[in-house]
Amino acid sequence: MSEAADQIFATLKQSAQSGAPLYLQLRKSIEDAVNRGLIGPGDALPSERDIASKADISRVTVRKAVQDLVKGGILVQRHGSGTFVAPRMERVEQSLSRLTSFTEDMARRGMAVRSAWLDRGLYAPSPDEMMVLGLSSNELVARVARLRIANDTPLAIERAALSASVLPDPAAIGSSLYAALETTGRRPVRAVQRISAANLGDDDARLLEVPPGIAGLHIERISYLASGKVIEFTRSIYRGDAYDFVAELRLSGPGEEGRP
Ligand code: GLP
Repeated sequence: MSEAADQIFATLKQSAQSGAPLYLQLRKSIEDAVNRGLIGPGDALPSERDIASKADISRVTVRKAVQDLVKGGILVQRHGSGTFVAPRMERVEQSLSRLTSFTEDMARRGMAVRSAWLDRGLYAPSPDEMMVLGLSSNELVARVARLRIANDTPLAIERAALSASVLPDPAAIGSSLYAALETTGRRPVRAVQRISAANLGDDDARLLEVPPGIAGLHIERISYLASGKVIEFTRSIYRGDAYDFVAELRLSGPGEEGRP
């Protein structure tokens, strides 16, 4: 972005006498450049030192402006590689009536899907896991925690828990949990999903590359086999700026509850 950068910071130098605090002027110049498309999603910003010398202001001022823009989700900082214009989020429209996997949902949209492993192993179950999965305290739970990424954008953190008798080797599942369950005839056929609002904590926000405290969705899915046995208990955090959940509503049929 060197030409665009020169333009942004040179303009700032000329207007630096306008009275507003310098860090606010710099913040506005960068924001305007993003809004006008002079610099686009994924473009790298010059280093703090370069900006300071181009705009003839102190590095402390540059840092303050950049930090504000990172907090506001306009820029992202990646340790060791610098500061970039935040990727523009294309919202994913997700039906609430189909029991599909993340891999299938993204593949259907032509998005390249991958996961980063956060945890996978066998553990003593928590009280919640014992209750939902029907485990006793001497049984083990298989936990599979992943950062789910589509087209290089992290969309969700998913923490699945299954009975160890269903998934004795959590390290052996490939890219899709449902595909792995399918191979042993244990893919769920029904699920109950609960969605609630959540503000992202520091760790989750860092993984999802969004500012801490921003709105997200907490999603809990409990899935069942045809026999009625619970197979999966998954708690996820989804990016609030990435998803629209869509449900089709129908007037209930005769005799059904809720008919007006
Ligand atoms: C969705 C659900 C999870 C489920 C996952 C399986 O994202 N929210 O409850 O575990 O799909 O996805 P995959 O088969 O891609 O691992």
